[in-house]
Amino acid sequence: MKIIRAETAGFCFGVRRAVDYVYKSIEEHRNERIYTLGPIIHNPQVVEDLASKGVKVLNNVDDIDDGLVIIRSHGAGPDVYERLKAKDLRFIDATCPYVARVHKKVEEYYRKGYQIIIAGEADHPEVIGTNGWCNNTAIIVNDVDEASRLPQLDKVCVVAQTTLNGSKWEDILKILLPKVNELQIFNTICYATSQRQEEALQIAKLSTAVIVIGGRNSSNTRKLYEICCKVCDRAFLIESADEIDNLSIKPDDVVGITAGASTPDGIIEEVITKMEELNKDAQQNIEEHVDEHP
Ligand code: F3S
Repeated sequence: MKIIRAETAGFCFGVRRAVDYVYKSIEEHRNERIYTLGPIIHNPQVVEDLASKGVKVLNNVDDIDDGLVIIRSHGAGPDVYERLKAKDLRFIDATCPYVARVHKKVEEYYRKGYQIIIAGEADHPEVIGTNGWCNNTAIIVNDVDEASRLPQLDKVCVVAQTTLNGSKWEDILKILLPKVNELQIFNTICYATSQRQEEALQIAKLSTAVIVIGGRNSSNTRKLYEICCKVCDRAFLIESADEIDNLSIKPDDVVGITAGASTPDGIIEEVITKMEELNKDAQQNIEEHVDEHP
């Protein structure tokens, strides 16, 4: 078995920064209740670890009256900041700077009178937060079919969810161009995302089986998995090393391994170690088999 590990697998800059903020806050604010506004990342193991250290997941600012609130890398709409300030709650803003840049663009063009279109998933926290910066008036399209159903529009500013698939973005733009009189296009797909997706595609092409590690509720992990499925018949999405035994990995496989932006290095290492152990066992079995049947 040969293992190819993606260099881009694991935490991106924005996720690492947000998670570091939480662990630092645990150290520095020992006597304070700490909340993250929504799970800090879409990774059950990290969320469980933080819960064991007393960090609570908060869904609504209105549910608390004191404590320290951490806004996650996905960002939030202006209403959240207003409610935090109105309640005099202390907060740390861990919004990824690349997401904050999208907020600024959306706010600027909304004020200039443009219809905002967000290419992405309507129910994703990042998109919900971004929509807040144009007073929740954005049109959200997640595929060419949704874009095709749009009427003729006058002035439009289109941005992308930072983890959108690059080819989907291009397809949506092709549909929008003839439908809009003046189209301002801002490709806000994060470089870390495009690099990770490109590398996943290349590795999947070279592999007979691909393992994508990450939370099943993580949007960017699922997109990596979809990309791999397009070029490799045996792509698997797993959350931890415990799931490896259920995969049909064979001793002569070339196994590509990648991971979502919210997958901790420790989990990736566990998967690779387990794969290497399986490989060793398989080699030993083959050698013993050969010895028995010379
Ligand atoms: Fe930020 Fe890009 Fe990660 S937008 S949160 S660095 S995927």
